[in-house]
Amino acid sequence: MTETPEGVYALTVAELRHYTDRLFFFRTERPDAFRFRSGEFVMIGLPPEVMEAAGGKAKTIWRAYSIASPAWEEHVDFYSIKVPDGPLTSVLAGIATGDTVWMRKKPTGTLVHDALVPGKRLFLLCTGTGIAPFASIIRDPETYEKFEKVYVIHTCRENAELQYGFDLVEEIANHEILSEIVGDKLVHWASCTREAPDTARGVHAGRMTDAMRSGALYEELGIGPLNPETCRVMICGSMDMLQDCKQLCEAGGLVEGSNAQPGQFVIERAFVG
Ligand code: A2P
Repeated sequence: MTETPEGVYALTVAELRHYTDRLFFFRTERPDAFRFRSGEFVMIGLPPEVMEAAGGKAKTIWRAYSIASPAWEEHVDFYSIKVPDGPLTSVLAGIATGDTVWMRKKPTGTLVHDALVPGKRLFLLCTGTGIAPFASIIRDPETYEKFEKVYVIHTCRENAELQYGFDLVEEIANHEILSEIVGDKLVHWASCTREAPDTARGVHAGRMTDAMRSGALYEELGIGPLNPETCRVMICGSMDMLQDCKQLCEAGGLVEGSNAQPGQFVIERAFVG
């Protein structure tokens, strides 16, 4: 096995869950010294010999992955897409428990509390694997210290792709400490676009952006539209989705923030490859 490069952790895969033929979850051990802020991402890769054994070049390909577990957890979670010809994800999708995944030591990102000014309502808008950073944020007690209400708004192509979000909400409800902290502050709104929604589970039809434009989303949540006094937004999805959601935030009078200059909404691309 190649020696682990400087600035990289070699992590052992502890758990795997394949949600659909396009989506999977994996969990690794967490090195004691590894610190990050909930919502940040890291670079993930596989040792060169693993890439070579899968038919590629003996070279690590690095991709950005949001950390899907909160900062206090003893393990590190990731939620990934499988791109059939994706140089990393096609190989990563074949990992097994006990295998080694490489992770660069330095986390970064803008979907963090530090990049938002205080507010009352936090909207977490995501499509597909864009829910990963919010899997971290919604399990971080700081989120509920800072906000009165937290809305996870998730759109996927199919019902089955929404399962991870449902699992997270259930996990929180069953968690002895978190369930107390979260109470009724967390609201999960899910929709799918390419098949009939599973209405029995409360899944809606169509893109979140359409439900925001029409006002149907706010009506259902029993709140007014986005406004700069009370609402803060984090957005994670495809480039198109980011653009559309950014426009909706700006139309509502919200100003984009960053780590250097906190604002009323923040954006990060859902990484693929
Ligand atoms: P749609 O099926 O109408 O394209 P993907 O798997 O391609 O990343 O898409 C994930 C989900 O994001 C799909 O449900 C897709 O809807 C939706 N989506 C794609 N573009 C946008 C956008 N600009 N605004 C909101 N949702 C979007």
